[in-house]
Amino acid sequence: MQRVLLDCDPGIDDTLALAYLAALHHVGEIELVGVTTSAGNVSVGETARNAAWALETLGLSQVPVAPGQPSPLAVPLVTTPETHGPHGVGYLSPPDSYEFAADWRAIWRRAQAVGAHLIITGPLTNAATWAAGRSFDDFASLTVMGGAVNYRGNTTPTAEWNFHVDPHAAARFFEKLGHSGHLATLCSLEVTEQFLIDSPRLDKLIDVLGDAPIATVLPELLRFYFEFHEAQGEGYQAQIHDLLTTMIALDRITFDAVDTTIAVEADSPLLRGTSVADLRSHWDAPHNARLVTAADIDAAHTELLRAARFLAE
Ligand code: BDR
Ligand code: CA
Repeated sequence: MQRVLLDCDPGIDDTLALAYLAALHHVGEIELVGVTTSAGNVSVGETARNAAWALETLGLSQVPVAPGQPSPLAVPLVTTPETHGPHGVGYLSPPDSYEFAADWRAIWRRAQAVGAHLIITGPLTNAATWAAGRSFDDFASLTVMGGAVNYRGNTTPTAEWNFHVDPHAAARFFEKLGHSGHLATLCSLEVTEQFLIDSPRLDKLIDVLGDAPIATVLPELLRFYFEFHEAQGEGYQAQIHDLLTTMIALDRITFDAVDTTIAVEADSPLLRGTSVADLRSHWDAPHNARLVTAADIDAAHTELLRAARFLAE
């Protein structure tokens, strides 16, 4: 069975990734061994609370949750309430009544010991902090949502949000991988923005979920995200980056990828968080990523409904 550690910053699309993982966990396809959070879409306390609330709603209160590092490595934290809502979960306001595991690193150590797949859908602050003192040996795989690799950004002309929030963490994470021989599967904006949920797809999802408690919160969760994308000129729908990333991490859909070297700019004000893939080996540097270049989006929609049926049962 695949074991999974999710490091995330819920976040609307992170919450959908949690729902998907919970569905697979309930039917024994995976074991979600822990959830840690980063500061990004909202503060680290709020992302931890949102993760705990989502897991409770999904019937997985026993999964340990811990807040990770409270701020980026070298720049002040910026959050994005305009994208994910004032509390990070659209129009919803989860209660502040959750208890967390004290030490996120202990969750990572346990996950590493059981060979978990590490999936990261927020800024790379925890991962870079881990990399400073420890290896990624024994994780079954590493998968990251981030970057607008050789592509236009969603936060600045060239930077994607997760890498922009903590550019030093992203830069150091990929440097460390290059030195250690590990490859992270990188799901960048060019691919993840293709996975869109609109009103008809949401209605279908809610229908399939039936009486599952998560069905009752999805409308107010997604409505905020739809409105944000519409205000950006992208239509009344939403890009569900982190859920697509999770499906790719667990090999539930087919995708194309190329092994390459990724570098992230951290210090230039204009190019902060910009990510580049050395696709023609100009740098003669070790590979550190398996860059996803295409994914079967139709299969992702089918897979989401397959998983939703597990929550309904
Ligand atoms: C990424 O940024 C966040 O706002 C989303 O949760 C996703 O992880 C997309 O750029
Ligand atoms: Ca996220």
